[in-house]
Amino acid sequence: MSTILITGASSGLGWALSLLYAEPGVTLHLVARRSERLRDLAPLLVEAGARPVLHEIDVRDRKKMEEMAAGLLATTGPPSLIIANAGVRGEEDGNDFRTMEQVFDTNVMGVLNTVMPFLPAMKEEGRGRIAVMGSLAGYRGLPKGGAYCASKAALSAWTDAVRYEAEPFGVSVSLINPGYVVTEMTRKNSYPMPFLLTAAEAARRIRAGIAKGRARIEFPLPLVLIVRILALLPPRLGDRILRMASRK
Ligand SMILES: NC(=O)c1ccc[n+]([C@@H]2O[C@H](COP(=O)([O-])OP(=O)(O)OC[C@H]3O[C@@H](n4cnc5c(N)ncnc54)[C@H](OP(=O)(O)O)[C@@H]3O)[C@@H](O)[C@H]2O)c1
Repeated sequence: MSTILITGASSGLGWALSLLYAEPGVTLHLVARRSERLRDLAPLLVEAGARPVLHEIDVRDRKKMEEMAAGLLATTGPPSLIIANAGVRGEEDGNDFRTMEQVFDTNVMGVLNTVMPFLPAMKEEGRGRIAVMGSLAGYRGLPKGGAYCASKAALSAWTDAVRYEAEPFGVSVSLINPGYVVTEMTRKNSYPMPFLLTAAEAARRIRAGIAKGRARIEFPLPLVLIVRILALLPPRLGDRILRMASRK
């Protein structure tokens, strides 16, 4: 018997991960604002033998997230796996105050609201896995993606710190950095998205990485190499390469 908590399960990666983890003996606690989408997903999970429990919650609402966690801790104890996946891209022209606030509230504070209420109990029990949804976009600020990239960079640093703190207690912590994946988030993108993956394929890679206890789960490899090299280059050389790429 295992209990898994997935935020942002109403579409994209969260939906695909819910389907992938759905099997007999698994209780899936699913969080999102669009409860009608969660209700569409639930029968598919039941068909696969899992028990879905739906939570219509905005991850930015710390009080509601704490109440949900308290309920879970009181009944089944901490989840064996938490996937803090809910996230937003923000506006197209995303370097301004408003976008920064919106994106950080969901992508950063929403992740803390998801993980922190469970962390003490997980450490006390000396078990469990935490997986935080970052992005390869967290390696460097990209054009019009200031808020989004900054939020994922913040998660990367935060996850490193939490991993250092939690793993001696037996709680493993992974950062997931996917490249481009076909979801509602990327559907509106007008620019080229190299090495694009389906959500189902991305979910399979994420599950394999979590099972191996990887500190960083990153894919696809060619894009991982490109962003890592870009991040290592002198910043203005990186700017020049990005300008050249955007002209193509
Ligand atoms: N697609 C990509 O190429 C890609 C690449 C790297 C990383 N990622 C990351 O993967 C994660 C999932 O994104 P996706 O691509 O699957 O996009 P998506 O299809 O737009 O899914 C986003 C999910 O997050 C949920 N969400 C957003 N704000 C929320 C809030 N305030 N409270 C609760 N749930 C909220 C949405 O549910 P509701 O709207 O129903 O609340 C939805 O289920 C994000 O963290 C994203 O940054 C995506």
